[in-house]
Amino acid sequence: MRQKLVAGNWKMNLSYPEGLALAHEIAILAGAAQLTPDQPRVVLCPPFIHLFGVAQHLPKAAGFYLGGQNCHQKDSGAYTGEVSATMLRSVGCEYVILGHSERRQYCHETDDLLAQKLKAALAAGLKPIFCVGETLETREADETFEFIGRQLSDGLFHLSNEEFDQVVIAYEPIWAIGTGRTATSAQAQEVHAFIRERIARAYDAEAAQDTTILYGGSANAQNARELFSQPDVDGGLIGGAALKPADFITIIQSF
Ligand code: PGA
Repeated sequence: MRQKLVAGNWKMNLSYPEGLALAHEIAILAGAAQLTPDQPRVVLCPPFIHLFGVAQHLPKAAGFYLGGQNCHQKDSGAYTGEVSATMLRSVGCEYVILGHSERRQYCHETDDLLAQKLKAALAAGLKPIFCVGETLETREADETFEFIGRQLSDGLFHLSNEEFDQVVIAYEPIWAIGTGRTATSAQAQEVHAFIRERIARAYDAEAAQDTTILYGGSANAQNARELFSQPDVDGGLIGGAALKPADFITIIQSF
C-alpha cells in the first residue's frame, strides 16, 4: 500500500515566534484528534530558520515529519545565502520540496538544475517532494499532458529505480495555486492517473502503484475529502490552509 501523505507548505510566511506558535497549536490539535501514525503521514515544511524550532514541537508519535522548501544542489562551499540538503537533514528533515512552480518561475529553476537538486537531496537521505503542474495557458491550449509528461521525463525520470522509490510527486496546476480556484476532483484524478501511467512506462507497474502522488492548489478543509477520495490522489501539498491549524487537521482527517 502506498503511503498517504499531507504536506504543509508554509512558504515565506510567519515570523519565528509565529511559526513556533503554529507548530505548537497543530501539535495540540493533533493530540486531541488522536491521529494515527502514518495514516496519513504529515510533513510540515516551514521556512529554513523555523525548522529547528518547529522540530521541537513536532508530534512525532502522530506521524509528523519535517521538510525543507528547497535545497541547494551542492553539499557545501562558497554559495552565500544557500542551504544544503545535508544541512536540512542535520536539523531533522526527512523531506524536501523541489521544483515548486514558484521557484521555477521566480528563481528560474530549470529541469537541469532540479535534476542536480534531486541528486543532492537523495544523496543526503532526504525524500524529495517533486512538483509538476501546468499554467492556465497550457491547460487552455489542451497541452497539459504533453507538458507534465515533459516535466517528468526531463526532471525526474533520470533517477535510478532505487532513487525513484524515495520520491513523492505533487501535481500542482499553477492556475490553482493560491487562487482559490481548485482543480475539480476529476481534473486532478485525470492528471494523477496520467502521471502513474508515465511512471509505469519509465520504471514498472510496481513503481507506479507504489508512488505517492499529491494534489496541490487551493486544497482546503472543504474540498480535501472529495479530492482525496480519488483513486490516484494520495494526499495533498497544502499552502494557505496549512497556516490555519484547525483546517489543516481537518485536511489530515479527510481520508
Ligand atoms: P495553496 O498552495 O494551497 O495556497 O494553493 C499550494 C502550494 O503552492 O503548494
